[in-house]
Amino acid sequence: MPNKACVRAHTNIALIKYWGKRDETNFLPMNSSLSLTLDKLYTDTMVVFDEALPQDFFYLNGEQQGEKETQKISKFLDLFRAEKKTALRARVESINHVPTAAGLASSASAFAALAGAANLALGLDLDPQRLSTFARRGSGSATRSIYGGFVEWDMGTCSDDSFAVPVDDAGWDIGMVIVAVNQKAKEVSSRIGMKRTVETSPFYPAWVESAKKDILDIKAAIAAKDFIRLGEITEANGMKMHGTMLGAEPPFSYWEPDSIVAIKTAQALRKQGIPCYVTMDAGPNVKVLCRLSQAETIKAAFLEHFTEDKLIITKPGKGIRELTEAERAVY
Ligand code: DP6
Repeated sequence: MPNKACVRAHTNIALIKYWGKRDETNFLPMNSSLSLTLDKLYTDTMVVFDEALPQDFFYLNGEQQGEKETQKISKFLDLFRAEKKTALRARVESINHVPTAAGLASSASAFAALAGAANLALGLDLDPQRLSTFARRGSGSATRSIYGGFVEWDMGTCSDDSFAVPVDDAGWDIGMVIVAVNQKAKEVSSRIGMKRTVETSPFYPAWVESAKKDILDIKAAIAAKDFIRLGEITEANGMKMHGTMLGAEPPFSYWEPDSIVAIKTAQALRKQGIPCYVTMDAGPNVKVLCRLSQAETIKAAFLEHFTEDKLIITKPGKGIRELTEAERAVY
Protein backbone atom coordinates (compact mmCIF):
# COMPACT_ATOMS: atom_id res chain seq x y z
CA MET A 1 0.00 0.00 0.00
CA PRO A 2 1.50 3.38 -0.99
CA ASN A 3 0.19 5.33 2.09
CA LYS A 4 0.84 8.63 0.35
CA ALA A 5 -0.58 10.36 -2.73
CA CYS A 6 -0.98 13.82 -4.16
CA VAL A 7 -3.84 14.73 -6.49
CA ARG A 8 -4.90 17.86 -8.40
CA ALA A 9 -8.59 18.66 -8.88
CA HIS A 10 -10.00 21.66 -10.71
CA THR A 11 -13.01 23.61 -9.60
CA ASN A 12 -16.18 23.67 -11.67
CA ILE A 13 -18.96 26.14 -12.35
CA ALA A 14 -22.47 24.78 -12.68
CA LEU A 15 -24.35 25.84 -15.81
CA ILE A 16 -27.41 23.94 -14.61
CA LYS A 17 -27.31 24.40 -10.86
CA TYR A 18 -27.52 22.04 -7.95
CA TRP A 19 -29.62 23.89 -5.39
CA GLY A 20 -31.27 21.73 -2.75
CA LYS A 21 -30.89 18.28 -1.23
CA ARG A 22 -33.49 15.56 -0.95
CA ASP A 23 -31.24 13.73 1.54
CA GLU A 24 -28.90 15.88 3.60
CA THR A 25 -26.92 13.04 5.16
CA ASN A 26 -25.99 11.50 1.82
CA PHE A 27 -25.91 14.70 -0.22
CA LEU A 28 -28.54 13.53 -2.67
CA PRO A 29 -29.70 16.44 -4.83
CA MET A 30 -33.22 17.45 -5.82
CA ASN A 31 -32.19 17.71 -9.47
CA SER A 32 -29.41 16.70 -11.82
CA SER A 33 -26.86 19.43 -12.60
CA LEU A 34 -24.27 20.13 -15.27
CA SER A 35 -21.00 22.03 -15.01
CA LEU A 36 -17.88 23.20 -16.76
CA THR A 37 -14.58 22.28 -15.12
CA LEU A 38 -12.14 25.21 -15.08
CA ASP A 39 -8.45 25.06 -15.84
CA LYS A 40 -7.24 28.07 -13.84
CA LEU A 41 -8.65 27.26 -10.42
CA TYR A 42 -7.55 24.08 -8.67
CA THR A 43 -6.51 22.44 -5.45
CA ASP A 44 -3.50 20.17 -4.92
CA THR A 45 -3.87 17.85 -1.98
CA MET A 46 -1.42 15.41 -0.47
CA VAL A 47 -2.63 12.73 1.92
CA VAL A 48 -0.32 10.56 4.00
CA PHE A 49 -1.79 7.78 6.13
CA ASP A 50 0.61 6.98 8.94
CA GLU A 51 0.29 4.62 11.89
CA ALA A 52 2.40 6.96 14.00
CA LEU A 53 -0.27 9.69 13.82
CA PRO A 54 -2.56 9.92 16.88
CA GLN A 55 -5.14 11.98 14.95
CA ASP A 56 -5.76 13.62 11.57
CA PHE A 57 -3.92 16.84 10.76
CA PHE A 58 -5.01 19.33 8.11
CA TYR A 59 -2.87 22.08 6.59
CA LEU A 60 -4.32 24.58 4.12
CA ASN A 61 -1.92 26.80 2.17
CA GLY A 62 0.80 25.88 4.70
CA GLU A 63 -1.22 26.71 7.81
CA GLN A 64 -2.46 24.14 10.26
CA GLN A 65 -6.25 24.33 10.48
CA GLY A 66 -8.32 24.42 13.65
CA GLU A 67 -10.54 21.78 15.19
CA LYS A 68 -13.69 22.56 13.20
CA GLU A 69 -12.02 22.41 9.79
CA THR A 70 -10.00 19.33 10.72
CA GLN A 71 -13.12 17.54 11.95
CA LYS A 72 -14.77 18.08 8.56
CA ILE A 73 -11.79 16.45 6.87
CA SER A 74 -11.75 13.60 9.42
CA LYS A 75 -15.42 12.88 8.86
CA PHE A 76 -14.81 12.75 5.14
CA LEU A 77 -11.75 10.51 5.51
CA ASP A 78 -13.86 8.18 7.68
CA LEU A 79 -15.75 7.19 4.52
CA PHE A 80 -12.49 5.99 2.98
CA ARG A 81 -11.30 4.36 6.21
CA ALA A 82 -14.59 2.44 6.43
CA GLU A 83 -14.18 1.26 2.84
CA LYS A 84 -10.60 0.12 3.52
CA LYS A 85 -11.42 -1.19 7.01
CA THR A 86 -8.56 0.73 8.55
CA ALA A 87 -8.23 3.13 11.48
CA LEU A 88 -5.08 4.84 10.16
CA ARG A 89 -4.98 8.60 10.72
CA ALA A 90 -3.75 11.00 8.06
CA ARG A 91 -1.87 14.20 7.43
CA VAL A 92 -3.59 16.28 4.75
CA GLU A 93 -1.85 19.17 3.01
CA SER A 94 -3.85 21.26 0.57
CA ILE A 95 -2.83 24.18 -1.55
CA ASN A 96 -5.50 26.23 -3.29
CA HIS A 97 -4.24 27.62 -6.59
CA VAL A 98 -6.47 30.59 -7.10
CA PRO A 99 -5.23 33.81 -8.69
CA THR A 100 -4.60 36.48 -6.06
CA ALA A 101 -7.47 38.62 -4.77
CA ALA A 102 -10.05 36.40 -6.37
CA GLY A 103 -11.65 34.82 -3.30
CA LEU A 104 -12.68 31.86 -5.41
CA ALA A 105 -11.49 28.89 -3.37
CA SER A 106 -14.06 26.15 -3.75
CA SER A 107 -15.27 23.13 -1.84
CA ALA A 108 -15.66 21.38 -5.22
CA SER A 109 -11.93 21.20 -5.99
CA ALA A 110 -11.10 20.69 -2.29
CA PHE A 111 -13.17 17.55 -1.79
CA ALA A 112 -12.49 16.13 -5.27
CA ALA A 113 -8.72 16.43 -4.67
CA LEU A 114 -9.00 14.96 -1.18
CA ALA A 115 -11.13 12.08 -2.45
CA GLY A 116 -8.66 11.35 -5.25
CA ALA A 117 -5.65 11.43 -2.92
CA ALA A 118 -7.30 9.33 -0.18
CA ASN A 119 -8.33 6.74 -2.77
CA LEU A 120 -4.76 6.36 -4.04
CA ALA A 121 -3.06 6.60 -0.66
CA LEU A 122 -5.21 3.79 0.72
CA GLY A 123 -4.91 1.74 -2.47
CA LEU A 124 -8.70 1.53 -2.75
CA ASP A 125 -8.75 1.53 -6.53
CA LEU A 126 -12.19 3.17 -6.79
CA ASP A 127 -13.12 3.94 -10.40
CA PRO A 128 -13.88 7.61 -11.23
CA GLN A 129 -17.64 7.09 -11.12
CA ARG A 130 -17.56 5.52 -7.68
CA LEU A 131 -15.01 8.09 -6.55
CA SER A 132 -17.46 10.83 -7.51
CA THR A 133 -20.02 9.33 -5.09
CA PHE A 134 -17.41 9.67 -2.34
CA ALA A 135 -16.52 13.26 -3.32
CA ARG A 136 -20.25 14.05 -3.25
CA ARG A 137 -20.41 13.36 0.47
CA GLY A 138 -17.83 16.08 1.13
CA SER A 139 -19.66 18.69 -0.94
CA GLY A 140 -22.27 18.19 -3.65
CA SER A 141 -20.47 20.24 -6.27
CA ALA A 142 -17.30 18.14 -5.73
CA THR A 143 -19.11 15.22 -7.40
CA ARG A 144 -18.58 16.93 -10.77
CA SER A 145 -14.93 17.95 -10.28
CA ILE A 146 -13.72 14.38 -10.78
CA TYR A 147 -14.05 14.90 -14.55
CA GLY A 148 -12.98 17.59 -17.01
CA GLY A 149 -15.01 19.59 -19.55
CA PHE A 150 -18.79 19.49 -19.36
CA VAL A 151 -19.90 17.12 -16.62
CA GLU A 152 -23.33 15.98 -15.54
CA TRP A 153 -24.14 14.96 -11.99
CA ASP A 154 -26.99 12.53 -12.37
CA MET A 155 -29.26 12.91 -9.33
CA GLY A 156 -29.70 9.12 -9.26
CA THR A 157 -32.07 7.14 -7.08
CA CYS A 158 -29.78 6.42 -4.11
CA SER A 159 -26.29 7.05 -2.76
CA ASP A 160 -24.68 4.49 -5.09
CA ASP A 161 -26.03 5.85 -8.36
CA SER A 162 -25.92 9.60 -7.71
CA PHE A 163 -22.64 10.20 -9.54
CA ALA A 164 -20.96 12.32 -12.21
CA VAL A 165 -20.58 11.43 -15.86
CA PRO A 166 -18.40 13.22 -18.42
CA VAL A 167 -20.51 14.75 -21.18
CA ASP A 168 -18.06 16.51 -23.53
CA ASP A 169 -14.48 17.81 -23.32
CA ALA A 170 -15.62 21.39 -24.12
CA GLY A 171 -12.76 21.68 -26.59
CA TRP A 172 -14.80 23.69 -29.09
CA ASP A 173 -13.83 27.29 -28.32
CA ILE A 174 -15.45 27.39 -24.89
CA GLY A 175 -14.05 29.73 -22.25
CA MET A 176 -14.97 31.70 -19.19
CA VAL A 177 -14.18 35.13 -17.82
CA ILE A 178 -14.53 35.22 -14.04
CA VAL A 179 -15.39 38.57 -12.53
CA ALA A 180 -14.30 38.41 -8.90
CA VAL A 181 -16.63 41.02 -7.47
CA ASN A 182 -15.91 40.44 -3.84
CA GLN A 183 -13.89 38.15 -1.61
CA LYS A 184 -15.65 38.64 1.72
CA ALA A 185 -16.88 35.50 3.52
CA LYS A 186 -20.49 34.81 2.59
CA GLU A 187 -23.20 35.61 5.10
CA VAL A 188 -25.28 32.60 4.05
CA SER A 189 -23.33 29.49 3.04
CA SER A 190 -24.60 27.52 0.05
CA ARG A 191 -25.48 24.67 2.41
CA ILE A 192 -27.66 26.85 4.63
CA GLY A 193 -29.01 28.86 1.71
CA MET A 194 -30.22 25.85 -0.27
CA LYS A 195 -31.79 24.30 2.82
CA ARG A 196 -33.70 27.47 3.60
CA THR A 197 -34.86 27.70 -0.01
CA VAL A 198 -36.08 24.09 -0.12
CA GLU A 199 -37.95 24.50 3.15
CA THR A 200 -39.54 27.91 2.66
CA SER A 201 -39.54 29.21 -0.93
CA PRO A 202 -42.85 28.76 -2.78
CA PHE A 203 -40.82 29.09 -6.01
CA TYR A 204 -38.78 26.00 -5.21
CA PRO A 205 -41.01 23.29 -6.76
CA ALA A 206 -41.12 25.31 -9.99
CA TRP A 207 -37.31 25.51 -9.95
CA VAL A 208 -36.98 21.72 -9.71
CA GLU A 209 -39.43 21.17 -12.57
CA SER A 210 -37.73 23.73 -14.75
CA ALA A 211 -34.21 22.40 -14.00
CA LYS A 212 -35.33 18.97 -15.27
CA LYS A 213 -36.11 20.48 -18.65
CA ASP A 214 -32.99 22.68 -18.65
CA ILE A 215 -30.68 19.71 -18.23
CA LEU A 216 -32.17 17.95 -21.25
CA ASP A 217 -32.03 21.13 -23.32
CA ILE A 218 -28.44 21.96 -22.39
CA LYS A 219 -27.24 18.45 -23.22
CA ALA A 220 -28.89 18.81 -26.64
CA ALA A 221 -27.13 22.18 -27.11
CA ILE A 222 -23.78 20.63 -26.15
CA ALA A 223 -24.32 17.69 -28.50
CA ALA A 224 -25.08 20.16 -31.31
CA LYS A 225 -22.12 22.40 -30.25
CA ASP A 226 -24.62 25.25 -30.27
CA PHE A 227 -22.87 27.92 -28.18
CA ILE A 228 -25.69 30.46 -28.26
CA ARG A 229 -28.25 27.97 -27.00
CA LEU A 230 -25.78 26.74 -24.38
CA GLY A 231 -25.34 30.28 -23.12
CA GLU A 232 -29.03 31.14 -23.13
CA ILE A 233 -29.95 28.06 -21.10
CA THR A 234 -27.05 28.67 -18.69
CA GLU A 235 -28.00 32.28 -18.01
CA ALA A 236 -31.69 31.51 -17.58
CA ASN A 237 -31.04 28.60 -15.24
CA GLY A 238 -28.80 30.66 -12.96
CA MET A 239 -31.34 33.48 -12.79
CA LYS A 240 -34.09 31.04 -11.85
CA MET A 241 -31.97 29.64 -9.04
CA HIS A 242 -31.32 33.11 -7.65
CA GLY A 243 -35.03 33.84 -7.97
CA THR A 244 -35.88 31.00 -5.57
CA MET A 245 -33.88 32.75 -2.84
CA LEU A 246 -35.93 35.93 -3.06
CA GLY A 247 -38.97 33.81 -2.26
CA ALA A 248 -37.37 32.21 0.82
CA GLU A 249 -38.18 33.17 4.41
CA PRO A 250 -36.28 35.18 5.39
CA PRO A 251 -35.41 36.19 1.83
CA PHE A 252 -31.77 36.52 0.85
CA SER A 253 -29.62 37.32 -2.13
CA TYR A 254 -25.94 36.97 -2.95
CA TRP A 255 -25.96 39.84 -5.42
CA GLU A 256 -23.99 43.02 -4.84
CA PRO A 257 -24.06 46.26 -6.83
CA ASP A 258 -20.99 45.18 -8.79
CA SER A 259 -22.70 41.89 -9.70
CA ILE A 260 -25.32 43.94 -11.55
CA VAL A 261 -22.59 46.01 -13.20
CA ALA A 262 -21.06 42.76 -14.49
CA ILE A 263 -24.42 41.42 -15.71
CA LYS A 264 -25.14 44.68 -17.57
CA THR A 265 -21.67 44.64 -19.12
CA ALA A 266 -22.32 41.16 -20.53
CA GLN A 267 -25.71 42.29 -21.86
CA ALA A 268 -24.08 45.29 -23.56
CA LEU A 269 -21.49 43.02 -25.18
CA ARG A 270 -24.28 40.84 -26.56
CA LYS A 271 -25.90 43.91 -28.10
CA GLN A 272 -22.58 44.58 -29.83
CA GLY A 273 -22.70 41.09 -31.32
CA ILE A 274 -20.32 39.37 -28.89
CA PRO A 275 -22.16 36.42 -27.38
CA CYS A 276 -21.47 35.93 -23.67
CA TYR A 277 -23.70 34.76 -20.85
CA VAL A 278 -23.56 35.11 -17.08
CA THR A 279 -23.99 32.68 -14.24
CA MET A 280 -23.55 33.16 -10.49
CA ASP A 281 -23.25 30.75 -7.59
CA ALA A 282 -23.78 31.30 -3.89
CA GLY A 283 -21.80 34.53 -3.90
CA PRO A 284 -21.55 37.87 -5.71
CA ASN A 285 -18.94 36.81 -8.30
CA VAL A 286 -20.08 36.66 -11.91
CA LYS A 287 -18.86 34.02 -14.34
CA VAL A 288 -19.14 34.89 -18.01
CA LEU A 289 -19.44 31.93 -20.37
CA CYS A 290 -17.96 32.85 -23.72
CA ARG A 291 -16.05 31.68 -26.74
CA LEU A 292 -12.44 31.24 -25.64
CA SER A 293 -11.29 33.11 -28.76
CA GLN A 294 -13.31 36.17 -27.64
CA ALA A 295 -12.30 36.06 -23.96
CA GLU A 296 -9.66 38.82 -24.29
CA THR A 297 -12.13 41.15 -26.03
CA ILE A 298 -14.68 40.47 -23.31
CA LYS A 299 -12.10 41.04 -20.58
CA ALA A 300 -11.21 44.40 -22.17
CA ALA A 301 -14.86 45.49 -21.88
CA PHE A 302 -14.96 44.47 -18.21
CA LEU A 303 -11.74 46.41 -17.56
CA GLU A 304 -13.81 49.57 -17.91
CA HIS A 305 -15.52 48.66 -14.61
CA PHE A 306 -13.20 46.22 -12.83
CA THR A 307 -9.47 46.12 -12.12
CA GLU A 308 -7.18 43.63 -13.85
CA ASP A 309 -6.72 41.47 -10.71
CA LYS A 310 -10.49 40.84 -10.53
CA LEU A 311 -10.72 39.38 -14.04
CA ILE A 312 -9.63 35.84 -14.76
CA ILE A 313 -9.79 34.15 -18.14
CA THR A 314 -9.89 30.39 -18.13
CA LYS A 315 -10.26 27.56 -20.58
CA PRO A 316 -12.01 24.28 -19.71
CA GLY A 317 -10.12 22.17 -17.19
CA LYS A 318 -9.35 18.48 -17.04
CA GLY A 319 -10.39 15.83 -14.55
CA ILE A 320 -8.44 14.87 -11.44
CA ARG A 321 -4.95 13.51 -11.81
CA GLU A 322 -2.11 12.33 -9.62
CA LEU A 323 0.79 14.75 -9.50
CA THR A 324 4.26 13.66 -10.59
CA GLU A 325 7.23 13.66 -8.20
CA ALA A 326 8.50 16.92 -9.77
CA GLU A 327 5.17 18.66 -9.31
CA ARG A 328 4.99 17.36 -5.77
CA ALA A 329 8.42 18.78 -4.97
CA VAL A 330 6.87 22.19 -4.34
CA TYR A 331 5.55 20.86 -1.04
C1 DP6 B 1 -24.81 27.42 -6.15
O1 DP6 B 1 -21.70 22.01 -3.34
O2 DP6 B 1 -21.22 24.10 -2.02
O3 DP6 B 1 -22.64 26.49 -6.41
O4 DP6 B 1 -23.32 20.14 -1.10
O5 DP6 B 1 -23.88 21.66 0.79
O6 DP6 B 1 -21.50 21.37 0.08
P1 DP6 B 1 -22.95 21.38 -0.34
O7 DP6 B 1 -23.13 22.62 -1.34
P2 DP6 B 1 -22.21 23.14 -2.54
O8 DP6 B 1 -23.32 23.94 -3.38
C2 DP6 B 1 -23.11 24.43 -4.64
C3 DP6 B 1 -24.23 25.33 -5.02
C4 DP6 B 1 -23.99 26.14 -6.27
C5 DP6 B 1 -24.48 25.41 -7.51
C6 DP6 B 1 -23.63 24.29 -8.03
O9 DP6 B 1 -22.41 24.28 -7.88
O10 DP6 B 1 -24.24 23.40 -8.67
